[in-house]
Amino acid sequence: MVLKNKKIILCITGSIASYKAVELYRVLKKEGASVVIILSSSASKFISPYIFKSFGEEVYSDDAFEIPLAHIELAKTADAIVIAPATYNTINKIACGIADSLITLTVSASGDKPCVFIPAMNGKMYSNEILQKNIKEMSPEKYFFVSPASGELACGDFGEGKFPEIADIIFELESVFKNNRLKGRKILITAGGTREYIDPVRFISNASSGKMGVAIANEAAKEGANVTLIACNIDFSCLYISKKIKLIRKQSFRDLKDSILEEFPENALLIMAAAVSDFSVKEKSALKIKKEDISPNGAADMRLNLIKNEDILKLLAKNKQDGQIVFGFAAETDNIIENAQKKLKEKSLDYIFVNDVSKNIIGSDENEGYLLKKTSEFSAAATNKSRSEINKKAIENYEQSLEIKKFERMNKTELAELLLAELA
Ligand SMILES: Cc1cc2nc3c(=O)[nH]c(=O)nc-3n(C[C@H](O)[C@H](O)[C@H](O)COP(=O)(O)O)c2cc1C
Repeated sequence: MVLKNKKIILCITGSIASYKAVELYRVLKKEGASVVIILSSSASKFISPYIFKSFGEEVYSDDAFEIPLAHIELAKTADAIVIAPATYNTINKIACGIADSLITLTVSASGDKPCVFIPAMNGKMYSNEILQKNIKEMSPEKYFFVSPASGELACGDFGEGKFPEIADIIFELESVFKNNRLKGRKILITAGGTREYIDPVRFISNASSGKMGVAIANEAAKEGANVTLIACNIDFSCLYISKKIKLIRKQSFRDLKDSILEEFPENALLIMAAAVSDFSVKEKSALKIKKEDISPNGAADMRLNLIKNEDILKLLAKNKQDGQIVFGFAAETDNIIENAQKKLKEKSLDYIFVNDVSKNIIGSDENEGYLLKKTSEFSAAATNKSRSEINKKAIENYEQSLEIKKFERMNKTELAELLLAELA
C-alpha cells in the first residue's frame, strides 16, 4: 500500500472526461490516501463539487482569492499533485509558468513535490506540437505523464487522447514514490504455467496463476527497471500488467524456452517465476482425438507418450555471461529447504525462492517461503570476476556459503518488493 496515508491534491480540469476523476478519487481512497480536490472553473461545468462534498471531502474552487494563501498551504502539505484529467490548456499554462488559478498556483509553489498529469483530449489537440514540445521540456524529475489511451474519442474521432485506465494512473503514482532502485537495469521475468497440448483442445498444464511473476514485473518496473515479461497462459482479465513492461505471450515449454534464449543475452537478471512443464507430449495430434480412437477395442485406459524437457534454468545458468544473475523459483511439498538447496547447487543459480505449495499458495494473492542465496565470496567472484578467475577456495566456500531467509505469509506484491530489495 504505497499510497497509504499519502496526501494527494487531485486537480480536476475541464474535459469531457472530468467525470472519470470520480473513479480515480474512489480508488485513491481505497488505497488509503487522503485526497483534497480542486475543481477548475471549467471542470465544475462538467461535474459538481457536491459529488466529493457528499463523501465528506474538502473541495476547493479554482479561485485563488477565495481562501488567501490556500495554494501555499496545499503545496506545503501535499505529497503529490495529480492533475486528472489534465487539459491542453492547463498543461500548457503550467509548462509556461503561468499561475493564474488555484491549480496552477499550487503547482508553482510545490517545489520538488511530484506532479502527475493525466492528459485527456481530442487526438489532434494531444499531438499538437506546442503541447508535445512543452511536455518534452518539462523536468522529468518533477513532472510525470501517463500516456492517454487510444481509441474512439468523445468527439467521435479515433486517436490517442482518451483518459487512461485507473490502474495505469495508480501505477505511475506509486512509481513516483519509489526510489528508482533498479533504474535502467534490464530484467527478464517469466510468469504463469506452460501448456503441453495433446490435441488442439486438450493440454497438460499446472495451476500456476502467474500472480507472483506479474507482481515482480510490476514492482521492478515501478523501481525503474526495463522489464521484459514472458507470460505463459495468464488470465489477463484479472491481472494488471503495466504498459511500461515489454510483454511476450507464450504457451508451451518449447515456445518459452526459445523466447528466453532469445531475450536472456540482453538482460542482466533473469527471474524465472513461471512453472515449466517437466514433460512435453511427444506427438501432438493435429486433429481432436475421438473417444473411439483412444479405445477402439473398448479398452478403458489411454497411454500418452511424454518426453522429458530440458531444464531451462540449468542451461541458462551454465551459459550465462559474467555479471548476469539467475533467480529461480521452486514449488515443493516436502523437505522444502533441502530440495531448494539441491536445485540451487545443481542448476548453478544465484538465488532460489522456495515455497511450500501445500499451504494453499497456488492461485492465491499471498505467498510465503524461503529465499536461498549464494553469499559473499562466490557471488562476488561470479559477478565481478571472470569465471576462470574463480579459484578453488571460492568454490569450496560455495558449499557452505548459503544464506537462507524466511518470508512470512504476505501479499505477493509486498513479497515482490522485498525480493527485489535483495537484488537492488
Ligand atoms: C464540451 C467541451 C469539452 C471539452 N473537452 C476537453 C477535453 O477533453 N480536453 C481538453 O483539453 N479540453 C477540453 N475542452 C476545453 C477546455 O474545457 C478549455 O480549454 C478550458 O479553458 C479548460 O480550462 P481548465 O484547464 O482551467 O480546466 C472542452 C471544452 C468543451 C466546451
